[in-house]
Amino acid sequence: MSELYPAEVIIDPTTGAVSPATGRYAKYLSELSGIFSNSDAWSRAIQDENDPLVYEVIECKQEGSDLFFGTTTMQPGKIGEEFYMTRGHFHEDRTKGEVYCTLSGQGLLLLEDRQGCCSTVEMRKGSIAFIPPDWAHRSINCGPIPLVFTWVCSVAAGHDYGQILQRGMRKLIVEREGEIEVVTNPKFD
Ligand SMILES: [Fe+2]
Repeated sequence: MSELYPAEVIIDPTTGAVSPATGRYAKYLSELSGIFSNSDAWSRAIQDENDPLVYEVIECKQEGSDLFFGTTTMQPGKIGEEFYMTRGHFHEDRTKGEVYCTLSGQGLLLLEDRQGCCSTVEMRKGSIAFIPPDWAHRSINCGPIPLVFTWVCSVAAGHDYGQILQRGMRKLIVEREGEIEVVTNPKFD
């Protein structure tokens, strides 16, 4: 194992920039096939908006550490009545939880356990969300500006996207008549 040293890492709360960063990836709308319930609106938005960026993840990982952290920056937007969201995942290691700390913007963290119990946690500047082990989690930008949050996770947690990509989550976060609503996914009715 390499030797680990204390470090200061600077995070820009409005852009999500991480310095120094060790990795990053971006998700464009065309890469989020099947997660929005209105697939016609999804195809149309890829065409009309020239495949917009939905979110970007930047990480800082020290080789040999048990923990790593980073930011996720989610653009504002909607597909049909659903807000932009992340793919959502369980952790491969079912014993590992995670912590999200919102730096700017406003959104909802949608959670669901293996038995189908659902929960939401508000995401707003200064809020910290605790994600217990073995709860699927997806973040949703419900506001007009980028939603930026820091996450801290075990490097051993891993991602299990399969179940959420195949079945979706039981709740959808939508805007109806200007109100943010948590509604049941018709696939689970
Ligand atoms: Fe996670």
